[in-house]
Amino acid sequence: MSRRITQLIVLILQSVACLSLQNDTLSAGVIIRDPETIVSAKQDYKLGFFSPPNTTNRYLGIFFSFSEETVIWVANRDAPLKDSSGAVTLSGDGNLVVLDGTNRTVWSTNVTTTSLINPVVQILDTGNLVLREEASGDALWESFSHPTDVMVQGMRLMQNVNTGKQVLLTAWKNATDPAIGSFTGGLDALSGTPQLVVWDEGRPHWRSGPWNGLIFLGIKEMFYAYLDGFTQVRNDSVGNFFYSRPQNNGLVTISLSSSGSAIRKLWNGEAKRWDVVMSYPENECDVYGTCGPFGSCNSLESPICSCLRGFEPANEDEWGRGNWTNGCRRRKQLRCGDDGFERMRYMKVPDFARASSSRVQDECRTECLGNCSCIAYAYDINIGCMFWSDTLIDTQEFDRVGVDLYVRLSASEFDSHKERNMYIIIGVAVGFVCISVMMFIAWWFIVKRKGNNAQDSSILEAGQMFTTDSTAIVLKNESKEVNIGDLPKFTFEMLANATNQFHEDNLLGRGGFGPVYKGVLANNKEIAVKRLSAESGQGMQEFMNEVIVISKLQHRNLVKLLGGCVEKDEKILIYEYMPNKSLDACLFGPTNPTKKLLDWNMRSSIIEGIGRGILYLHRDSRLRIIHRDLKPSNVLLDQDWNPKISDFGMARIFGGNEDHGSTARVVGTYGYMAPEYGMEGRFSEKSDVYSFGVLILEIIKGKKNTHYFNDELSLSLIGCAWKMWNEGNGLSFVEESIASRETEEEMVRCIQMGLLCVQEYPKDRPSIEIVLSMLSRDIVDLPVPKQPVFAENGSTPGPNGSTQQNVYSNNELTLSVLDGR
Ligand SMILES: *[C@@H]1O[C@H](CO)[C@@H](O)[C@H](O)[C@H]1NC(C)=O
Ligand SMILES: *[C@@H]1O[C@H](CO)[C@@H](O)[C@H](O)[C@H]1NC(C)=O
Ligand SMILES: *[C@@H]1O[C@H](CO)[C@@H](O)[C@H](O)[C@H]1NC(C)=O
Ligand SMILES: *[C@@H]1O[C@H](CO)[C@@H](O)[C@H](O)[C@H]1NC(C)=O
Ligand SMILES: *[C@@H]1O[C@H](CO)[C@@H](O)[C@H](O)[C@H]1NC(C)=O
Ligand SMILES: *[C@@H]1O[C@H](CO)[C@@H](O)[C@H](O)[C@H]1NC(C)=O
Ligand SMILES: *[C@@H]1O[C@H](CO)[C@@H](O)[C@H](O)[C@H]1NC(C)=O
Ligand SMILES: *[C@@H]1O[C@H](CO)[C@@H](O)[C@H](O)[C@H]1NC(C)=O
Repeated sequence: MSRRITQLIVLILQSVACLSLQNDTLSAGVIIRDPETIVSAKQDYKLGFFSPPNTTNRYLGIFFSFSEETVIWVANRDAPLKDSSGAVTLSGDGNLVVLDGTNRTVWSTNVTTTSLINPVVQILDTGNLVLREEASGDALWESFSHPTDVMVQGMRLMQNVNTGKQVLLTAWKNATDPAIGSFTGGLDALSGTPQLVVWDEGRPHWRSGPWNGLIFLGIKEMFYAYLDGFTQVRNDSVGNFFYSRPQNNGLVTISLSSSGSAIRKLWNGEAKRWDVVMSYPENECDVYGTCGPFGSCNSLESPICSCLRGFEPANEDEWGRGNWTNGCRRRKQLRCGDDGFERMRYMKVPDFARASSSRVQDECRTECLGNCSCIAYAYDINIGCMFWSDTLIDTQEFDRVGVDLYVRLSASEFDSHKERNMYIIIGVAVGFVCISVMMFIAWWFIVKRKGNNAQDSSILEAGQMFTTDSTAIVLKNESKEVNIGDLPKFTFEMLANATNQFHEDNLLGRGGFGPVYKGVLANNKEIAVKRLSAESGQGMQEFMNEVIVISKLQHRNLVKLLGGCVEKDEKILIYEYMPNKSLDACLFGPTNPTKKLLDWNMRSSIIEGIGRGILYLHRDSRLRIIHRDLKPSNVLLDQDWNPKISDFGMARIFGGNEDHGSTARVVGTYGYMAPEYGMEGRFSEKSDVYSFGVLILEIIKGKKNTHYFNDELSLSLIGCAWKMWNEGNGLSFVEESIASRETEEEMVRCIQMGLLCVQEYPKDRPSIEIVLSMLSRDIVDLPVPKQPVFAENGSTPGPNGSTQQNVYSNNELTLSVLDGR
């Protein structure tokens, strides 16, 4: 009986203790003993003792309260407590200390203080632990300035350009031991244009490539996404400048693993786990300097290393054995004045880029040629010219993304090219003959076999192909067999004949998963034929996605699927043919004669048509579909210039009540993706509205968002529209050939609608039916749009509205993950 009562009292005492510990603040005299914790006001972060996996050692740390194994900060990382008798408190001198069972201090914040009045330690909603005097708000010490291995939103990695002092992440020794490991990571702002670097015992292990204000030039994924939640803050003696970036709703961390990988993770609230969004180094080529100086790495080739053109291995033997560390040397010495440049496409630019003030592409070459110590240059619209002098190290060749690098070579290198070219031509000719013979034989076999089993294309029921998960229809990849349902079937032979055996002259372009050919059927009907290419990795999924989505839809502003063909390894879809090609070709084609036809009436009816197509997808069809890749090349034009949305390879179908989804694999196109989608993989109808807004502005301006660049102001297309509209000068944004005072009111209204669609927060963007009501003037008065996120591109307005061009000559640079959540 008395034991019961004691237990009860203990229980009550515990719950009272718990209640008092609902507080996020630790004041002088209070002791927190293992396993008590304090919790941030919004309940997201906890400070308390924990044990890493596979050990009984105890450490004081900060972790997520909904994911307690995710520790973001460790106090006594080098001084573990051997049992759970630890405590944390404020010492007499005001420092936060960790005590062991014998009251010995094992860790201290070590702030030198003389007399603190009422020191308190508080865990903030950002996950930052701060030590301050209760009255004054200034932090004397904060955990964000002494990070462990994880960066959370609001934290800054920085380097002081004057002192060189850095705030770095330091990896754990291994997964069970949080002690200081060999890898550190942070911002390097001194050895060239700012970039993120991971060091291994102080030697570079991986680098992100230069930051251009939007993306890191050495991270492939970033070329597809707008920005990745990073923001650069400059802070110099004249004033503070910073990039404003959206408050996002996602929870992102960047951690440095004990093996030196920088890993970006996104919290998946539904599945209650962290999804890895990016992890670098991804392959051997990403490891710093794998191919040595003047070498270039390509992960898709074997061997992965080669010398840059004009260079040869410094040590043939070693190179041949696959030891590339010594790199390559120049074959023909430079003679200054008499040199040329070799262009290398799709590169991760070498380390030690020096940015110049020159912001015009043509000037880069002249400037480099005029300086004998300049051995290479490159250009990025946000950075301007970049130059290299002593060495070219950690160069990498990407697949289809990256920057053009121009390498300086002796003029005689270009002569010897001609000789080499001769050999190449002879070689190619011989090869061609061989291949032709082989192809003939192969063709002969195929024709023979086809005769035998033309009926063989097996069909599976749809239910076996895909399952429905909570957010979208997901395709199962295991099945090699494909069902194209009720679609009319075409034979491969018919299509091969229609397209002149898929002849290159019939090539119309490339769709999501393969080339598109023009074809003419026996009855003279023109068709477009999209063939799944063998090398397209995600192709199979996109193919089936397209079949599912589009075979269920019919609308005059969506491209019509006429049929399909599944035979052996061939998977082909057949569409109606669009004589006026894509909006992309019409609007941005070089001096395109059809562009003259695109007068204002035509353009506004194209805008309306696209809007109606989107409305059908979002609302009117039985399904609710998010397209996810709206851009001019996916809008086709029929003979009457009616726009038709195409390419549903990335589209998502939603069930009744859901209205948004998220994905770890962000697909889409740089320039058209809404910020929340590009950064966090969250997509909704409003992300399509964002892309539609970009389309509207492009149609009005006649220029591409990604390529548009105003030299003087260095503004993006959206920034330019915003600036001119805001200054009441909307007409000057309109493409010159169509700008007219008579239609000014309509045009400016249309720009305003575009700006409403590209607002930062999805909730601020109008839904597609509202946009259409605005277009048809059922809604007469338009709301005033907020400033778009990407208004600045390489330059930032200061507090007084001034524009600062030179982003890189500053005292202190920081890169941080977005604030808030
Ligand atoms: C925590 O306690 C202090 C006093 O001990 C009080 O001033 C503060 O408001 C409390 N904070 C919260 C979030 O309850
Ligand atoms: C802990 O130990 C188990 C069994 O030895 C092992 O499978 C697991 O990977 C270890 N976990 C970590 C984080 O080292
Ligand atoms: C540690 O300090 C606490 C409070 O000051 C005291 O109650 C406890 O007896 C001390 N423990 C040891 C082992 O000295
Ligand atoms: C605090 O200072 C002591 C003595 O100078 C040192 O041994 C200890 O490593 C320091 N602790 C931290 C966390 O810096
Ligand atoms: C982690 O490191 C510690 C100390 O260096 C070592 O004793 C331990 O075996 C390591 N654990 C693993 C799983 O590698
Ligand atoms: C800029 O630096 C100064 C001095 O380090 C600091 O007081 C100020 O808060 C900083 N401003 C910003 C916006 O970070
Ligand atoms: C590559 O060669 C360098 C010396 O040229 C040598 O120090 C290094 O150990 C070699 N690496 C390998 C993996 O053999
Ligand atoms: C030439 O290039 C070097 C190294 O990049 C640089 O230090 C120097 O200032 C340049 N000279 C001129 C005249 O631009």
